[in-house]
Amino acid sequence: MNQRDVIIACDFSSAEATLAFLDKFTDCKPFVKIGMELYYAAGPAIVKEIKDRGHKIFLDLKLHDIPNTVKKAMSVLSKMDVDMCNLHAAGTIDMMKAALEGLTRPDGTRPLLIAVTQLTSTSEERMQKELLINASINDTIVKYAQNAKQAGLDGVVCSPLEAGMVKEACGAEFVTVTPGVRFADGEVGDQVRVTTPARAKEIGTDYIVVGRPITQAEDPVAAYKRCVAEFVG
Ligand code: C5P
Repeated sequence: MNQRDVIIACDFSSAEATLAFLDKFTDCKPFVKIGMELYYAAGPAIVKEIKDRGHKIFLDLKLHDIPNTVKKAMSVLSKMDVDMCNLHAAGTIDMMKAALEGLTRPDGTRPLLIAVTQLTSTSEERMQKELLINASINDTIVKYAQNAKQAGLDGVVCSPLEAGMVKEACGAEFVTVTPGVRFADGEVGDQVRVTTPARAKEIGTDYIVVGRPITQAEDPVAAYKRCVAEFVG
């Protein structure tokens, strides 16, 4: 069985703010997600710094381009010692296969590679009206997950609400990484397809990605521990 864990989305605009935030965690080393904002601001150096501090890292850069470009970009990322990285499944099976090739190091090792299905901020209505996808959002997510599996990827990013059906379609070992997590008494913000850490556990997702409910909390360490208690148990 896959391991359940809470990943903190460190959506900060500088290395200093991120490290000051991580300094608060004196008795644990949370799994950290580095997204576009922090990576574009602080570059590969912040990845190395956080790794050297002993955290696992999900590098969330959501690549989406022609297969050759993604393959070459992934080959650069493979030299960073991250544990997980990702791309958009909408880039097609060929793009995902190319990414996997680029990410695999000469010794055969590589970070986990995960595909974004539909962003958790996208509603079914907007997907249909703006993207002209004439299917339900659930069917789209399952199809994208099946494509990712066919390409040889390890799993997908989706809402925790969709993790059960992804597992049903792609198998229990197919990893689900799920943002869109909010405490029952918290604010939703720009996310649409959301649920609580406890419900995410019941549905059976592997990783929850939690940003603002932890980073903007008065006591981030307590908020992180509340997530771990609800989700990991
Ligand atoms: O602050 P919040 O908990 O909404 O943060 C969620 C994080 O997960 C953000 O960093 C966002 O970029 C990321 N994410 C997402 N939906 C996806 C993929 C990644 O919200 N489908």
